[in-house]
Amino acid sequence: MAYSFKCFHFFIIIFILHVFTTTQISSSTDDSSFNNFLDSAKSPEIFDWMINIRRKIHENPELGYEEFETSELIRSELDKMNIPYKHPVAITGVIGFIGTGFSPFVALRADMDALPMQEMVEWEHKSKVPGKMHSCGHDAHVAMLLAAAKILKEHEKDIQGTVVLVFQPAEEGGAGAKKILDAGALENVTAIFGLHIDPALPIGEVASRSGPIMAGSGFFEAKISGKGGHAAIPQQSIDPILAASNVIISLQQIVSREADPLDSQVVTIAKFEGGSAFNVIPDYVTIGGTFRAFSKQSFNQLRQRIEQVIIGQAAVQRCNATVDFLEEWEPFNPPTVNNGELHEHFVNVAVNMFGIDKVNSVMTPSMGAEDFSFYQEVIPGYFFFLGVKNASDKQAESFHSPYLKINEDGLPYGAALHASLAASYLLKHEHDVPGVEGKYHDEL
Ligand SMILES: *[C@@H]1O[C@H](CO)[C@@H](O)[C@H](O)[C@H]1NC(C)=O
Ligand SMILES: *[C@@H]1O[C@H](CO)[C@@H](O)[C@H](O)[C@H]1NC(C)=O
Ligand SMILES: *[C@@H]1O[C@H](CO)[C@@H](O)[C@H](O)[C@H]1NC(C)=O
Ligand SMILES: [Zn+2]
Ligand SMILES: [Zn+2]
Repeated sequence: MAYSFKCFHFFIIIFILHVFTTTQISSSTDDSSFNNFLDSAKSPEIFDWMINIRRKIHENPELGYEEFETSELIRSELDKMNIPYKHPVAITGVIGFIGTGFSPFVALRADMDALPMQEMVEWEHKSKVPGKMHSCGHDAHVAMLLAAAKILKEHEKDIQGTVVLVFQPAEEGGAGAKKILDAGALENVTAIFGLHIDPALPIGEVASRSGPIMAGSGFFEAKISGKGGHAAIPQQSIDPILAASNVIISLQQIVSREADPLDSQVVTIAKFEGGSAFNVIPDYVTIGGTFRAFSKQSFNQLRQRIEQVIIGQAAVQRCNATVDFLEEWEPFNPPTVNNGELHEHFVNVAVNMFGIDKVNSVMTPSMGAEDFSFYQEVIPGYFFFLGVKNASDKQAESFHSPYLKINEDGLPYGAALHASLAASYLLKHEHDVPGVEGKYHDEL
């Protein structure tokens, strides 16, 4: 604790020096026209419109790759703003363009999908679809990106390049980000920013860090097969319940004994199915779970050892085991790793807009996963968290809670920051890649 506290102070000093020197150097680029983005986002014209969109999407949540009406709503708003877009990309995805149509290209991403759970919050705009809810705040992400688009469109003549708006399907499983990339939609994009609401962070505050911020994540399922029989005559059976129990114990020893204690990793068994009577040993047991790590190397090591331990430990009890990493259903999410230069850019822009005490630039990483990481594997990317905490709620509900509530007063901060991150990035990189022309210039 003490260490990071000191570190943070040290960082502030470095940062002040940095701001001082960069303002000296970059006085030729004038981004003063982007300074009032927060006021614009808070203006009733944009705020009310944005909140209305968020509530509409909240009432009608759609699961991954089924975001048809959400996608339609996005396109109709883009049409009204006269913003050209590509659709469909990755089934329901929409890619919009603001600016010159020429390089440099910077992307802003919002995910669109909801979760298969029943909303438990009683309010005017509660989900109208039983068993589906925007409990990860992707409804707010879409609304904020549309508001950022509106602000940027109003300043289009000042944009030195092209802002690429990425409305992405299927973040919650399904690797929508990967599908967007596979469609070639982000060719020539040199930086991508993404944000996530944080229900535990006060409004007007943001948090992120340089380097790994969220873990890589994978799932697995194993079938441990023995031989069923009468529970009172165990010598005639091969008990898969005992074998599976030992497998689970052994799996816990991978992280505790084989991983570097300073390199955070998780192996959790979250599923155990088998047996249905008090007096019958079943034929087989199915177990499953998730594993997490902050580097590809640690992740691959975990994957390999999970398979070896399940098969080897099952064999000790005369059982056979098969392990399925379910990659067809859910490709492994790489770790979310923030680019160092974009971190500097983010801190610069956010501190300018919100003040230094509202920007936590050394947040603690999370073992959660984000498919934003797929973009970061091929494009320098930056992911950050935006406060949407209601100050009167003592204990904030977490992501994926059926009780999740969002303080909508936090949304203008996200919209303005999105817009400013992109516009000022383009100003900075105006002369980076002369001559790269976007296809969209001709197509749209
Ligand atoms: C395990 O697999 C081997 C080879 O296929 C088979 O002979 C054996 O009966 C299996 N054992 C169990 C408990 O399923
Ligand atoms: C904050 O929570 C209180 C109590 O639940 C509620 O009355 C109020 O409307 C909430 N404010 C916002 C901005 O969501
Ligand atoms: C990327 O740039 C190349 C070279 O200018 C161009 O041929 C290509 O169409 C561009 N791709 C997109 C998606 O803009
Ligand atoms: Zn989520
Ligand atoms: Zn999410």
